[in-house]
Amino acid sequence: METVLLSDSEADLIKAAELIKNGDIVGIPTETVYGLGADASNEAAVRNIFAAKGRPADNPLIVHLADFSDAVNYTKAVPELAYKLAEQFCPGPLTMVLPKNDSIPMVTSGGLETVGIRVPSHPVMHRIIQLSGCPIAAPSANTSGYPSPTSASHVMKDMTGKIAAVVDGGESEFGVESTVIAIETESRVRILRPGCVTREMLLEFCNEVIIDHAILNELEAGETAASPGMKYKHYSPKADIIMIEGELDGFISFVSKHDPENTYSLIFDGDEAVFPYRHMTYGGNSSEQAHLLFAKLRELDEIGAEKVFVRAPSKDGVGLAVYNRLIRAAGFEVIRV
Ligand code: TXA
Ligand code: MG
Repeated sequence: METVLLSDSEADLIKAAELIKNGDIVGIPTETVYGLGADASNEAAVRNIFAAKGRPADNPLIVHLADFSDAVNYTKAVPELAYKLAEQFCPGPLTMVLPKNDSIPMVTSGGLETVGIRVPSHPVMHRIIQLSGCPIAAPSANTSGYPSPTSASHVMKDMTGKIAAVVDGGESEFGVESTVIAIETESRVRILRPGCVTREMLLEFCNEVIIDHAILNELEAGETAASPGMKYKHYSPKADIIMIEGELDGFISFVSKHDPENTYSLIFDGDEAVFPYRHMTYGGNSSEQAHLLFAKLRELDEIGAEKVFVRAPSKDGVGLAVYNRLIRAAGFEVIRV
């Protein structure tokens, strides 16, 4: 299949929407990461998304809507708290898991009775949803297991020959995927995947925000995941990633004893002045780290890095999202120095 690169012109967005209406898959920009979009109600199209990514069939897709008020068309019940959160965070990087109705096929929900609903804020994504008139199912547009794409060229790299088109809407603003939450009661939510809508931000609207155990811990054999995505290896470049927790002095001394000629380090911007070995930087604060992380992991593969020591980010605020992606990229291998 030929994969066409489209621009963000209205004419090209109309083309992208037509492809989606016809059951094709299109790579689409969002404010978090790029998605692989198809009509969420078209089972054959959704099956093709799973095939293009090589994604396990039990890992559900998020359904993207132009406006949160459309959620009633795809769900059985929308709690009051969901409306309150939507008022604050939609459009934006928040996905709410709600009980689905029959308009969402089981292939889309990975066999679950729930569906993740998200209203993206990226104007290109928003326009494509409007023009297509479809609820758009879209997982991140990477090959399953590989770091998510934050630019059209990342999507072209993973998906050329597998999907109809990619729309270039520039670099993704946030750089990590949306915060996924389950609404457990009118005053309690559970974060299933951390993102740029943080625990602190959610706490303004409810009494209790639980960080699901699977966010920072490897699942035990037989343990079920509240979010199926958490049980799979994720975000991993080809390079072996090892996360090092501790101060810069300890990090430098660790690297000095572990083959610095043949390894790379992924460090903070502020470390660069004194760090003496081969390295790349990934920003100076949590938001910058979120924005840069996946692009840097992909870049490390491109330069042929085989082993990479990463300075562990903070777990506060948006940092929790960065830490969650890195600990998975590292296969939960963390060394404390
Ligand atoms: O920012 C994002 O969310 C991006 C953009 C494209 O919107 N999408 C994205 O989709 O990251 P994906 O499929 O790569 O990740 C969705 C995550 C998976 O871990 C999945 O298991 C979880 O959300 N998820 C989706 N629907 C769910 C549901 N009904 N119940 C529990 N977890 C769900
Ligand atoms: Mg993904």
